[in-house]
Amino acid sequence: MTTSSAPGKIILFGEHAVVYGRPALAVPVTKVHAEVEVSDSERKGIWIDAPDVDLHAELNTLASDHPIASVIHNFLFLARVSPFPNLQLEISSTIPVASGLGSGAAVTVALTRALAAHLSHSMRDEEVNAFTYEIEKIHHGTPSGIDNTVITYARPVYFVKGQPAETFRVGEPFTIVIADTGIAAPTRESVADVRKLWESDKKRWENVFAEIGDISFAARRVIEEGWVKMLGALMDENQTLLQQMTVSSPELDTLVEAARQAGALGAKLSGGGRGGNMIALVEPEHAETVSRSLKEAGAKHTIITQVV
Ligand code: MEV
Repeated sequence: MTTSSAPGKIILFGEHAVVYGRPALAVPVTKVHAEVEVSDSERKGIWIDAPDVDLHAELNTLASDHPIASVIHNFLFLARVSPFPNLQLEISSTIPVASGLGSGAAVTVALTRALAAHLSHSMRDEEVNAFTYEIEKIHHGTPSGIDNTVITYARPVYFVKGQPAETFRVGEPFTIVIADTGIAAPTRESVADVRKLWESDKKRWENVFAEIGDISFAARRVIEEGWVKMLGALMDENQTLLQQMTVSSPELDTLVEAARQAGALGAKLSGGGRGGNMIALVEPEHAETVSRSLKEAGAKHTIITQVV
């Protein structure tokens, strides 16, 4: 039997602009994770049990573009495994789906590593990352690659599309509250709508993306130096630009405002937007109060986590 697990992730700065080559910052969220267990099976075929998504099926009964089936098929093809072995896969995840926490990429990374280990196919992190990016492209259109990168390396990442992953140091740990609107983030759609905006006025939107890139660049320095209090203002600035890009929503704006009112140092949406999560930077002693206020303002659930 072989097991593997992968954390969730949260984007701190730079979502959407990252698709246009600007830097973004993201960190792993270890309080949630996807876990995969692979064992040999007496039964013929590859049996998948994923109770969180109510999936109990043999691989060949699933459509080939099913998110889990596509990982397995592509892995077996890549690793040149033939004939298919008889396997039992147990997949579980505590990462909420479509919330901006990278649930899909985390399942892919954990599943790939568990299969690779079980079938003695050695894979370096770079290969797991590249493979997961290919899978992300099947399901998400034109992803930047930030999700698979943070989740594969499980380290804070300063990410520029197409460049090798750069990790960064957290000078002084800081606390964030993550709050879920409970609305599935339509990331594919919001990425496509931002592209339409950009196509309609490239000069204007390139300037906005450049401003966001400057925020990510500054935020990296601020985090490395441990100047935590300065981060809040950068989050607020980033949120204003995301609103201009039409990717916030009334629900996200309400949560952002509630966090600020409850004493957060700054707040913004995180990920694709129009649903999913927002994040608030807090003093550790205010984390519970901010979390409570977010729930009162409509958050479906919250996670308090330290970025270290
Ligand atoms: C989604 O988690 C982040 C976006 O920037 C899209 C991407 O980077 O692929 C909105």
